[in-house]
Order: sequence, then structure tokens, then C-alpha cells
Amino acid sequence: MKITNICCIGAGYVGGPTMAVIAQKCPHIKVTVVDLNEERIARWNDENVDNIPVYEPGLGEIVAHSRGKNLFFSTQVDKAIEEAQIIFISVNTPTKTYGSGKGMAADLKYIELCARQIARVSKTDKIVVEKSTLPVRTAEAIKSILDNTGNGVQFQILSNPEFLAEGTAVEDLLSPDRVLIGGDTTEEGQRAIQSLVEVYANWVPKERILTTNVWSSELSKLTANAFLAQRVSSINAMSELCEKTGANVNEVARAIGMDSRIGPKFLKASVGFGGSCFQKDILNLVYISKSFGLNEVADYWEQVIIMNDHQKRRFSKNIVSTLYNTIADKKIAFLGWAFKKDTNDTRESAAIYVADDLINEQAKIAVYDPKVDYKQVISDLNYLETRTDEQNRKHVTSFKDVYEACANSHAIAVLTEWDEFKTYDWQKIYDSMQKPAFVFDGRNLLDANKIKEIGFIYQEIGS
Ligand code: NAD
Ligand code: UDX
Repeated sequence: MKITNICCIGAGYVGGPTMAVIAQKCPHIKVTVVDLNEERIARWNDENVDNIPVYEPGLGEIVAHSRGKNLFFSTQVDKAIEEAQIIFISVNTPTKTYGSGKGMAADLKYIELCARQIARVSKTDKIVVEKSTLPVRTAEAIKSILDNTGNGVQFQILSNPEFLAEGTAVEDLLSPDRVLIGGDTTEEGQRAIQSLVEVYANWVPKERILTTNVWSSELSKLTANAFLAQRVSSINAMSELCEKTGANVNEVARAIGMDSRIGPKFLKASVGFGGSCFQKDILNLVYISKSFGLNEVADYWEQVIIMNDHQKRRFSKNIVSTLYNTIADKKIAFLGWAFKKDTNDTRESAAIYVADDLINEQAKIAVYDPKVDYKQVISDLNYLETRTDEQNRKHVTSFKDVYEACANSHAIAVLTEWDEFKTYDWQKIYDSMQKPAFVFDGRNLLDANKIKEIGFIYQEIGS
């Protein structure tokens, strides 16, 4: 089937960038991204592309290139579904916060709502694509809903997980390591796979487009995230051992990364991984394994999360003990709140948990992040439900100017690896701080020698 009309349900960090790139690379396809969130859609349509809701280097230009031509953002979900030949489901699949599987399983209520809506609205055959990260065998549930509540039209379900990382989304989408498409082994299933392959083949070399059965595709996504997160927890585990033994984790990472079997990527010790995916997907994997009675498999992967929680907690504990075991009323400046550089996303950011620990000790937190505003910081802390909104506001401020954020502080904690942090006038920052002035570098970002020379007491991870 020649594809000329695509719709994507969910205009978030995945749906927005992914569809913007498809639209740019396939000018012959009309791409409509729909969402229930009116404010989000209004921002995607904002004339000034600096105001689109997702910050990603290069994304503004790509949106500007196609928007209004073959790329549309809309709240008219039914209309877009009805017109499309391919419907991507790219809604959120967070960890369940209630009922059975609470705190572990993926919450599929948004997925099911989408399936029911597609079933209700569709009058012509459709290919439905799982773009969201889903538990293995979810396609079965989607198919059952579509087949039993639809208008007798034919649906093919494909799994096409997204591997982009935030902060490099545009680069990752333009030049993906691979595109994975899973579908039914039947003739209709294979035809549906081919239709989607043809879309990607507009810019992705065919040898990088991998096709599998649906279950392999669904499970590969959880597996990829589990392996990546495991590497971070592994190097973070070694960072603690380095601190006790005089080894330096940066040197260890370099030494092992030169082994071509290990490779150099994803070996950066840190205050702990964050982001909306790693923890959620591993918890989901643990839950699925347990539900099949595979307790050893579940325990193996759960350890990745346990290690990550430990790494975050040990960072805040070290701040308290180094600052003479009391940080009550001391100003501590946070450089960075986003879960990594080059994104405005703060979901599961280590900064949130470190701040929560330090507020428990009555510290005053002053946040500076180039892309995150005060409203978001407070909303992240409120979400933990540790204390009231008013109490959080009493303990946390945010600044648009980094020098103001740091002035009079007892310590600086680097929580995100934004490049600009390296370029500051660190002497000026030092001069404005309480003495002794401490820097706790949760990203091993700053030039240790330079910072120490100025007079800071500098502590990094894993040395
Ligand atoms: P997001 O929260 O940024 O966006 C999801 C959007 O879906 C929201 O705007 C929400 O309003 C909308 N939505 C929910 N239900 C809807 C409905 N019934 N109709 C219309 N709109 C609806 O989430 P995200 O970060 O884009 O993630 C989406 C999925 O992609 C998740 O399953 C996630 O695991 C996966 N994923 C995310 C990343 C990432 O880097 N963020 C990478 C790969 C995969
Ligand atoms: C991840 C996967 O990489 C991506 O393929 C998937 O589609 C979504 O989940 P993302 O969470 O956006 O992407 O960013 P990623 O670069 O993986 O970083 C995740 C977290 O790990 C960040 O907090 C990052 O700072 C941390 N990290 C990463 C480290 O601490 N050390 C590293 O070496 C790499």
C-alpha cells in the first residue's frame, strides 16, 4: 500500500520529534500529530519555534521546515485517525501508581483508550503501530480490542519501538543505528511491515531496517534499555569502589572501554541515571519476569535499579557529611535540573531525589538550569509527595542567572552535564560563595585541577 497519510497519537518527546522527521523526509506524506493536551498542541503550533514544548537541538528548524505544509499538530483526534492509513500510538506508558502491579508494571490505560478510539472511528483498513514502549505481548491486547469493538475493518498491528535518546533525538532520528519493525508472520502482516519499511526507506538505508516478529520487537526495546541502564549502574558501582581504593573511575572506564568487546560508550559514572525510560522499563521487565515465575531473572534486573537509587542517595549523604553534618539553612546551588544535557525533560532526574534528601535536612536549594523553569522544579518535588507545595517553595528557589544562584552558597552540586557549566567564570563564583567553598560534581564535568587551584574543595564521583 502506498502511504500518503499518517497520524500519530501523542505529541510528546517521542511523537513530536519522530513525526517531524518523517514529515521532513517524506514530503509526499501528510503527517498529523494529535494530542488531548490542548496547551501542548498550541505550543507545537506556536509561530515562534523556540516555544515548542520539547527542547531538542535542531528540532525547531525541522518543525519550521514542514509545519503547515505536510506536518500538522491538532487536537482533532477522530478526524486524524479516520483519514490515516498508518496510526502510530506514541502515548505515555508510565509505571502504574495503583492496583495490582503498582510501582512495577506499565500503566496501559492510555494505550487501551487509543485502541478503543481507533476501533470506534475507523471506517477503512488501518495499520496500527506501537511506537510507545510496551510490555511484550501488548499487541495481542490491542488486536483483541480492535477486532472485537471495531466496525469490521481490518487492522494490522506492528511494533516499531523508538530508540532515540533525548538531547540527541534529531540526530538519532535522522541517522538511526537501526529501525526495528515487528509484525505478524502472515501475508497481511508482512505487507503491513513492507508499507512501514517503505516509509523509513525514504532516508534510512535498507540494511538498517530490521524486521522481526511482534514479540521480539516488543521485547527488544525493553532489553535495549535494560542493557544500557545496566552499564551505567555497573560503572557507578565501580565508582564507589574507586573512592575506597584510590582508583579513578574515569581512568578505569577508559581502560575497559578500549577493549573492543566492551566499547567506550555509556561508561560515564554519574549521580545516577534519570529519564522517563530506564527505570520504568526495567521495573516493567522485572514485573513481567516475576509474572512468569522467573524470580532470578527479575532479581538480576532489579539490582540495576537498586544500585541507581543507592548512587543518588550516596551523593546527597556525602554532601551532608562533608558539610560538617549539618546543612540546615545552608544555601546549596544546583547546576542543572534536567536528567541530562540538551533537554528540558526532568522526568526521574537525579536532581529531584538529591533535592528531596537535602530539603529533609532543611537546606535551601537554589536551582539554575538553562532549560527548566521554577514551575517545573516545584512540580517535580510536589510529585514525590514528601511535603506540601508551600514547604517545597520555602526551601527551593530558582534563578535565571547562574552567578546569582551561586552567590552566598556553601556548596555547588553539579547535577546535569550542560556544556555551558564548563565555561563559567569560576573565580567569580568562588569569590561570591561562603568559605570553604565546595563543589560536588555529580557528572565529573569540570576541570578538577582548575577548580581546585581557585580554592574550591572539589569532589567528583569515583575518585
Ligand atoms: P510524553 O508524556 O512526552 O507524551 C505522551 C503524550 O501522549 C502526552 O502529550 C499525552 O497528552 C498524550 N496522550 C495520552 N493519552 C492520549 C490519548 N488517549 N489521546 C491523545 N493523546 C494522548 O511521553 P514520551 O516521552 O513521548 O513517551 C511516549 C512513549 O514512548 C512511552 O511509551 C515511552 O516509554 C516511549 N519512549 C520514550 C522515549 C523518550 O526518550 N522519551 C524514547 C523511546 C521510547
Ligand atoms: C534512553 C535510551 O538511551 C534510548 O535509546 C531510549 O529510546 C530511551 O531511553 P534517554 O533516557 O533519553 O534514552 O537518555 P540516555 O542518553 O540513555 O541517558 C539516560 C540517563 O543515563 C541520563 O540520566 C544520563 O545522564 C545517564 N547516563 C548515560 C549516565 O549516567 N552515564 C552514561 O554513561 C550514559
